[in-house]
Amino acid sequence: MALPDYFLQELKDRSDINDIISSYVNLKRRGKNLVGLCPFHNEKTGSFTVYPENGSFYCFGCHAGGDVITFIMKIENLDYIEAVKFLAGRAGLKMPEDGVDDSLSKLKTRVLEINRETARFYHSCLMSEEGKKGLEYFTKRGLSQSIIRRFGLGYSPDSKFALVNHLKKLRFTNEEMIAANVALPTRSGNVIDRFYARAMFPIIDLRGNVVAFGGRILTDEKPKYINTSDTPVYKKSQGLFAMNFAKNVKDERLILAEGYMDVISLHAAGFTGAIASLGTSLTSEQAKVIARYAKEVVICYDSDEAGQKAAQRAIPILRDTGLLVKVMAVPGNKDPDEFIRMNGKDGPARFKQLLESSGNDVEYRLLKLKTGFDLKSNDGKVRYLTAASEVLSSLENAIELEVYAGKLSEEIGVEKSAIINQSKKISAQRRRQREKKQLRDDIKFMGTEDSKVNPEKAENPRVANAEEGIIAYLFYNSDALRYVSERLPAQEFRTSFGRRVYSFIINHNSVTKPLSLTDFTQEFTVEEMSAISRILASRNEARVSARDADEYIDIIKHEAAFKGADQILKADEEDIKNYFKALRDKKK
Ligand code: CTP
Ligand code: MN
Repeated sequence: MALPDYFLQELKDRSDINDIISSYVNLKRRGKNLVGLCPFHNEKTGSFTVYPENGSFYCFGCHAGGDVITFIMKIENLDYIEAVKFLAGRAGLKMPEDGVDDSLSKLKTRVLEINRETARFYHSCLMSEEGKKGLEYFTKRGLSQSIIRRFGLGYSPDSKFALVNHLKKLRFTNEEMIAANVALPTRSGNVIDRFYARAMFPIIDLRGNVVAFGGRILTDEKPKYINTSDTPVYKKSQGLFAMNFAKNVKDERLILAEGYMDVISLHAAGFTGAIASLGTSLTSEQAKVIARYAKEVVICYDSDEAGQKAAQRAIPILRDTGLLVKVMAVPGNKDPDEFIRMNGKDGPARFKQLLESSGNDVEYRLLKLKTGFDLKSNDGKVRYLTAASEVLSSLENAIELEVYAGKLSEEIGVEKSAIINQSKKISAQRRRQREKKQLRDDIKFMGTEDSKVNPEKAENPRVANAEEGIIAYLFYNSDALRYVSERLPAQEFRTSFGRRVYSFIINHNSVTKPLSLTDFTQEFTVEEMSAISRILASRNEARVSARDADEYIDIIKHEAAFKGADQILKADEEDIKNYFKALRDKKK
C-alpha cells in the first residue's frame, strides 16, 4: 500500500526520533547528536548515535541504521506497514484508509482559530482594567500603543479559567485547547489556562497565522518565560519571532537578536529586519528559513558571556546555509533593547552606527583569537599567525582568503602569500586526512552487510567513496541539488546502489525542505537503510564541503568516461573525445 505524502509528512513531523528512541535507549546528548548503548547488539560503550538533524540513527558497532520507521521495524520486529501503524497510533494519527483522512487538517484549522481568538482575548485583556499591570509593564519598558498593537501584545489574566471559559463559549472543545497548548488537562478531566499573569507575545508565521505564544512573568519569579510547545501547527525548532514582518525587509539583511523585547525595541526604532529564535539556541532549520529571505545576517546577542557563547554556536550554523554572517558588539554589557533606550533619542542612530561597523564573522573570530597572544614578541606573532591560518583555512572563497590574509599581513608584517600558503596547506591536509580515514573505514566494512548492499564497491572503493560523498553532500545541502544534478547525470554513477540512491535524491526534488531518511523507507530495504545511514553518519562530523563535492564529481565523471573503454567501438565521436580528454586529465 502506498501511503499518501501528506500522511507520511505528518507522521514524520509527529514522530520525533529523539523521543521515540529515548523510550527504548538511554540517550545522552553529544553536541548536535545523541549517543547511547545500542539496543541491537551488546556493548559497554555507546556507539549508537541518533542524528536529529536528518532523522536518522546509526550504530558504529553493528552497523544498524535507518530512520524512525526502520528503528521501530527492527526493535518491535514489525514489517513496514505495521511499524507505520505503530507510530501513527502513538502520534494520535488515523491511518489513511480508502479516501483521505482529513481529521488532522480539520484539527489544524481549529488550532489556528483558537490561537487567533486567544491572541485577541489577551490583547483585549491588556487594554482593560484586568490587564493594567501588563500595560504598565510594557509602558515602563518603553513600548508605545502603536507598537503594542502592531505586535498584538497581550496580557493573560491572573486566573486559571479566564481563557478556557472564553474559548468554551466559542464552542472549542477541551481536546482542541490542549492540542493548541493554550490549556492543560487536569486530573478531573477538565482544562485550565496554561498562561496566567503574564505579558503575552504572539508568534506569527510567514502566512500571518498566530501559531504560538511566549509569556513573560512580570516579576522576578521563575520561569521567566513560558512558551508554546510543538503543536500540529507549530514547530519550535523552525519558529522565528517577527519573521512575518522581517521577511519583507528591503536590504536583505536581517538582525538576529536573542529575545522578544530586543526584537520589539529594534522594530520600534526602525530596524524592521530584527528577528529572534525563540527560547532555543539557533537551529539549522531556522537558519535555512533566514537564508531564504536574506543574504546577510547580523548576530546581535547580549554582550554577556552566555550571549557570546550563543553567538559562537550560531555562526557556523548560519554560515553553512551560505549566508554572509556578521557579529555586532553592543558595548557596555547591554542587550540591544537596553542600548537603544539608554541612548534616548540618539538610540536608533547609534545602533545604526554599530550595525554598519559590525564585523564579518572571520574578523570577529580573529579578533577574539588575538586577545590570547602577546603580539609584541616574535613567538607570540608566530603562534597567533598559526592559529589565524587555521581560521582562514576554513574559508571556501578565495577572495575572502585574499582579503583576510592581506589584513593579517599588514597587521603583523608577514608576507601575505606566506599566510595564504599556510592556510591552504592546512585545508589540504585536513581533506587528505578525511579521505584516508574514510578509506580505512570502508575497508572495515568490506564483508559486512554493507558490502552485500553495494557489492560493486569492492571493485572501486575510491569511486564508491566519491559517490557516497556526493550523496551525503546532497543530504546536508539540499540547496546544492540543482548544481550537482546538472553536472552529474545519474547514469554516470558506477555502482548501481549509489546510482539508485542518487536518482532517488535528485528525483525527490526537495529544495525547500531538508531531506529526511524517512523519505527513503518506502523505496529501500532495511539493510539498504543501514547502508544509507552509514554514508551519512560517517560524514556527519567532517562535512563534505563544496570543494570536496566538486572533486567527487570529477572522480565519478572520469570513471564514467573510462568505463566506456570497452564500448569504444560503439561510441560516437563525442564520447571518444571525452574519453581521451579524461585520459589526458588523469595523467596531469
Ligand atoms: N527565554 C525562554 N525561557 C526562559 C528565558 C528566556 O524562552 N526561561 C527566551 C525568550 O524568547 C527570551 C530569550 O530567550 O526572549 C532571551 O532571554 P532573556 O535575555 O533572558 O530575556 P529577554 O527577552 O531579554 O527578557 P527581559 O529583557 O524582559 O528580561
Ligand atoms: Mn533583555
